Amino acid sequence: ALEVVLARSGKSIIVAPGQTITDAMLAEGVEILTSCEQGVCGTCLTTVLEGEPDHRDVYLSPSERSAGKTMLPCVSRCKGPRLVLDL
Ligand code: FES
Repeated sequence: ALEVVLARSGKSIIVAPGQTITDAMLAEGVEILTSCEQGVCGTCLTTVLEGEPDHRDVYLSPSERSAGKTMLPCVSRCKGPRLVLDL
């Protein structure tokens, strides 16, 4: 499991293995706009404040991917145990 902290509300959400970050947020009643849920459209693009995203989308460019400042939480996860998102 990984922990996602939503910086604006201070909420901490546990994401189970096999669960997406956006699913875990919705299960906690946190709204996030999604569309494709496949890492293609960019609707869920989110700023990463802390932690190293594990990109599994096909939307970000190689330089955005290596910068690690944004991610698509409908598919992407995290390399460490914790992410802080600007949500
Ligand atoms: Fe389309 Fe996340 S909802 S990239």
